[in-house]
Amino acid sequence: MTWLKAGRLRMWQGGAMPTQSTPSARSVITPESTVGELVAARPLLARIFQKLEIDYCCGGKQTLAAACARRGLDPATTVTLLESAAAAQIAGPAEVDAAAMNLTELADHIEATHHTYLKIELPRLVEMADRVATKHSWRDARLPELAEAVSTLASDMFSHMHKEEAVLFPLVRQIETGARGDISAPIAQMEAEHEAAGGLTARLRELTDGFTPNAEACNTHRALLAGLAEFESDLHRHVHKENNVLFPRALALAIS
Ligand SMILES: [Fe+2]
Ligand SMILES: [Fe+2]
Repeated sequence: MTWLKAGRLRMWQGGAMPTQSTPSARSVITPESTVGELVAARPLLARIFQKLEIDYCCGGKQTLAAACARRGLDPATTVTLLESAAAAQIAGPAEVDAAAMNLTELADHIEATHHTYLKIELPRLVEMADRVATKHSWRDARLPELAEAVSTLASDMFSHMHKEEAVLFPLVRQIETGARGDISAPIAQMEAEHEAAGGLTARLRELTDGFTPNAEACNTHRALLAGLAEFESDLHRHVHKENNVLFPRALALAIS
């Protein structure tokens, strides 16, 4: 039986783009903390401030209490929210046992966690990288290349995820319900794209001295580097689940 129809195969031709530092020396989060110092100590909290529409960059000197008053937020609730987010970041994302899942569960899990994360995170990283390059290229000549690389990587990843979600993962789910056929070509293509994304991510690491901010880096620059470090970590776990668990098991079952 073959279900790799021509219309589906055409989708492979392309798609459209629609470490954290340790907490030991950090002060506690209070309403009197300035939002700038909170993000400087915990750069990934920038994401929470962005969601709450609190300006942590140019408005970094305002206290959390003042920022909450401006946005009509309860300071105590906001402190609790920030503490929870900081704790989750320190603990790291809970990892699942991919090998214990069936193929459908694993494909669902990858879409619900890694793909969803990337769809939210990549536009934010592109926007921050552009902003940092525009404002600070005079200080670091590598920033325009960094912004270009982040943009290319985001575009590539959106295209890649589209192929997996529209073509390969539906096939994997069909294999689990009894369909059989040769899926080696699309899997080889996905693996080649993983390799390319890994290479581009390694270049991001080189361009940022291992995602390490220098003393002059502004809060947006620090948030960008923290976000890129998190992206790299997530990419490694994401590709591991596909290359080492989902793809080999689907390949073996498809020809059984
Ligand atoms: Fe994926
Ligand atoms: Fe993938």
